[in-house]
Amino acid sequence: MKNNKQAFATRAIHSGYDAQTHQGALVPPVYMTSTFEFESVEQGAARFAGEQPGHFYSRISNPTQALLEERLADLEDAEAALATASGMGAISATLWTLVSAGDHIIADKTLYGCTFACLQHGLTRFGVEVSFVDCTDLNAIQSALTPRTRVVYFETPVNPTMRIMDITAISALVHTDNPTATVIVDNTYCTPALQRPLTLGADLVVHSATKYLGGHGDLVAGAVAGRKELIDEIRLVGLKDLTGAVIAPMTAFLIMRGLKTLSLRMERHCSNAQQLAETLQQHPAVEVVYYPGLASNPYYQLASEQMSQPGGMIAFELKGGLNSGIAFMNNLQLIKRAVSLGDAESLCQHPASMTHSTYTPEEREHHGIAEGLIRLSAGLEDITDITADVVQALKNC
Ligand SMILES: Cc1ncc(COP(=O)(O)O)c(C=O)c1O
Repeated sequence: MKNNKQAFATRAIHSGYDAQTHQGALVPPVYMTSTFEFESVEQGAARFAGEQPGHFYSRISNPTQALLEERLADLEDAEAALATASGMGAISATLWTLVSAGDHIIADKTLYGCTFACLQHGLTRFGVEVSFVDCTDLNAIQSALTPRTRVVYFETPVNPTMRIMDITAISALVHTDNPTATVIVDNTYCTPALQRPLTLGADLVVHSATKYLGGHGDLVAGAVAGRKELIDEIRLVGLKDLTGAVIAPMTAFLIMRGLKTLSLRMERHCSNAQQLAETLQQHPAVEVVYYPGLASNPYYQLASEQMSQPGGMIAFELKGGLNSGIAFMNNLQLIKRAVSLGDAESLCQHPASMTHSTYTPEEREHHGIAEGLIRLSAGLEDITDITADVVQALKNC
């Protein structure tokens, strides 16, 4: 059962589950059910009214989902968590719960492409104002804050440019200037194994669980974690009524299977990325490498303070620009040309034509996403094989 004295890796395997209440089954059973029988009309009414705990319909909660949520909350040091059908499900359910027409959101200038689209093209259609600011600049956040600001939203490290935000400083600034604003951090790149934003002052953490949490490239899912009162509201408004982005029980089970090896996998992702970043940095065809584990990186110090390791994601640009980047990607033999990240397989993609094609070229320039930028998710293969593939692909680039 929940025991915060146990170490992270232990809790990732055991938290929230007591086999003796499930006929001794070592691995939690999957509750493949859409609805739940009531003992009486009165019991059903009490559950619907929230006066009695218990499940009543799997668009709101399900025992397999509930176990995953308890485990994720434990790992993020949160009071509660909500698991969803996708990362975008978690993000949209959260934002739609928190804002109304006339409200204002501050978001970092660079975001995952669909999060940017949700804000820039989605919420603005419903009368929500969005300011994209450079959240590495506290003065810029302070100038953008208004009494109408309901949300301050950023990723750290940022997808794809690897900028790092100071979670402690931003949370303190926002809570002082506007105590009603909610600070939301997308923790997809780090997972709670490397960074726990709630312990640094953020109000909510969102995830694409499709990535490192699931870890095997075989599911799409998301999560949001934070104070119980906020999570309850997101479940009953954002999930139940506005998005219906409910996680399937089997997907929740697969994420729990992935979580068992999260600590181990993150160590290997990080050590592979570190070695690869060092190799890239020394290669004559490479213009710049963005990786916070390099001492030359401007965010090296901040990253080492708020992250336990620099992560498994690297971005880089080649001296030959876009054409060299495309040639490099087409030369790859082991590393897969694919979007997504955090899988056992190393993955490489071109943000301008793939994950960040939701931005116009002008928007990409304005938001700091270079046309020649390459994003690489270091997988779990042996580093000598990953390096060999990168070095052969760089020939003639
Ligand atoms: C940082 C980040 N946040 C959110 C998402 C959206 O997650 P999903 O694809 O699970 O909806 C992604 C997807 O790539 C992402 O990289």
